[in-house]
Amino acid sequence: MRLGIAADHGGFELKERLKEELTDQGHEVVDFGAREYDPKDDYPDYVVPLGRAVAAGEVERGVAICGSGVGACVAANKIPGVRASLITEVYSAHQGVEDDDMNVMCLGGRVTCSALASDLVQTFLKARFKDGERYRRRLDKVARLEKLDEQDW
Ligand code: RB5
Repeated sequence: MRLGIAADHGGFELKERLKEELTDQGHEVVDFGAREYDPKDDYPDYVVPLGRAVAAGEVERGVAICGSGVGACVAANKIPGVRASLITEVYSAHQGVEDDDMNVMCLGGRVTCSALASDLVQTFLKARFKDGERYRRRLDKVARLEKLDEQDW
């Protein structure tokens, strides 16, 4: 799969490990930064370009990492077309794709160890959206929010 990955300083080390592992497994991994460890960098600078690439279909899925995974998730979900979630366990890593068509997985580099993160990413990449009527209906309701002006809420 062609996927994107991004991390700030809180997720840099985990990003580097996952990138190497995924590349070794034959995935095409596009790195949206950070390119080097910088303790003063900001997660939106890397997560937003990743999210835009996912929304535009330039990469199929994304993995966004910060210290907790929270900031990365908040930033990614601001981009229309992105369905991101902070993932810490295996069930949600596949169910989030199967039912909710999650296209960006967020991880906490200071929270989730690299062995578990690796399993979570594998599970995420193998999962496929079920595309049933009820799942599509719910996602259409969510997607409609992206088109509303604030006064329509
Ligand atoms: C950076 O120190 C940290 O705040 C950030 O990586 C992330 O955890 C935010 O949610």
